[in-house]
Amino acid sequence: MTKKIAVELGDRSYDIIIAKNSLENLSQFLAQKNYSKVFVLTDENVAKLHLARLQTVLSRSETIRVPAGEQTKSFSIFEKICEEILTKGIDRKSLIVAFGGGVIGDLAGFVASILLRGIDFIQIPTTLLAAVDSSVGGKTAINSKVGKNLIGSFYQPKLVLCNLEFLKTLPARELRSGYAEVLKYGLIRDENFFAFLEKNYQKIFTHDTEFLEKIITRSCEMKAEIVGRDEQESGERMLLNFGHTFGHVFETETGYSDEILHGEAVAMGMKMAAKMSQNFGLISEKDFERIARHLENCGFVTNPKKIRKNWNEENLISHLAKDKKNEGKNLTFILLKKIGDAVIQKGVELQEFKKILQNL
Ligand SMILES: NC(=O)c1ccc[n+]([C@@H]2O[C@H](COP(=O)([O-])OP(=O)(O)OC[C@H]3O[C@@H](n4cnc5c(N)ncnc54)[C@H](O)[C@@H]3O)[C@@H](O)[C@H]2O)c1
Repeated sequence: MTKKIAVELGDRSYDIIIAKNSLENLSQFLAQKNYSKVFVLTDENVAKLHLARLQTVLSRSETIRVPAGEQTKSFSIFEKICEEILTKGIDRKSLIVAFGGGVIGDLAGFVASILLRGIDFIQIPTTLLAAVDSSVGGKTAINSKVGKNLIGSFYQPKLVLCNLEFLKTLPARELRSGYAEVLKYGLIRDENFFAFLEKNYQKIFTHDTEFLEKIITRSCEMKAEIVGRDEQESGERMLLNFGHTFGHVFETETGYSDEILHGEAVAMGMKMAAKMSQNFGLISEKDFERIARHLENCGFVTNPKKIRKNWNEENLISHLAKDKKNEGKNLTFILLKKIGDAVIQKGVELQEFKKILQNL
């Protein structure tokens, strides 16, 4: 079965297509568009595993391979890619295909947004995290020495194509990391979905195609709805940052390395945000325990002390101060009013953050 979700953004609207084998849809899309040239940007891991399959549909494309990992979202690699594409020759009717996880999606989107002042690009996410989050919504970025995702643009793809077959080679750790973002949608928006996940989460580790299709579809529906109403994150879209404010602090301190993957940091952050919600009298102890239990059942490490015995509190606080949602000295957190309903809490005192750190 093929699922199709529309992201409604006026003349920049596009479809998200999710299917066990969605490459036929890619052929149809390309047949309608008549692109002059197609450039596939991918990383070495994805190229080894899946490029041959993609090339059965994109036979005349040129491939640009970059190393896998967060370090690739850098100015130097970005420059190299731009120069390589320009040298090979492009025009305004060229297409860039982002074929990989969030790193490739963010990088390819940014390249597409600035070459010739913007050419078309499409997303073919190959990680669960990219399928449910980074490929949808048009945030593109590379990292600066000062911080992550600080150089980028809002630039929407023309199509997001999730081919579930590609996700079959994902290791358990990557699947779990992506699952954190799936869980986030249940917690901020849909209690029934959260209850469904509580019952069925084990299916993620067996790459159950039906389950993956269901959770990716529901997650993308929620993201599409939110982005359609608040593309540039002036309000509602901030809710998607649930767990991320806390998570980023630990990701920054560990240098965005394999010590904590993005989704793992988000999972840890969601438990902390749930605790803060309880401290503010928003959710009950029972709901907090329910969230914490599920995170534990999934195998997430939610106590940062199990990752490092000692964290430098001053460093953590200085990372927190750089959060994009803050206004001046006022801290902003996304909290839960109940499971399935989130709120933007502005003006939070630093003391409240310290309280969470000290009671880990
Ligand atoms: N733009 C957004 O809205 C947004 C949202 C969330 C995260 N992000 C960004 O996404 C990035 C993280 O994305 P990610 O978790 O997908 O990381 P990633 O792209 O680094 O992929 C993780 C690892 O999985 C490998 N991989 C990819 N597909 C595979 C497959 N099918 N089988 C086996 N291995 C595969 C990759 O080579 C890599 O080693 C971060 O840079 C983050 O900032 C962006």
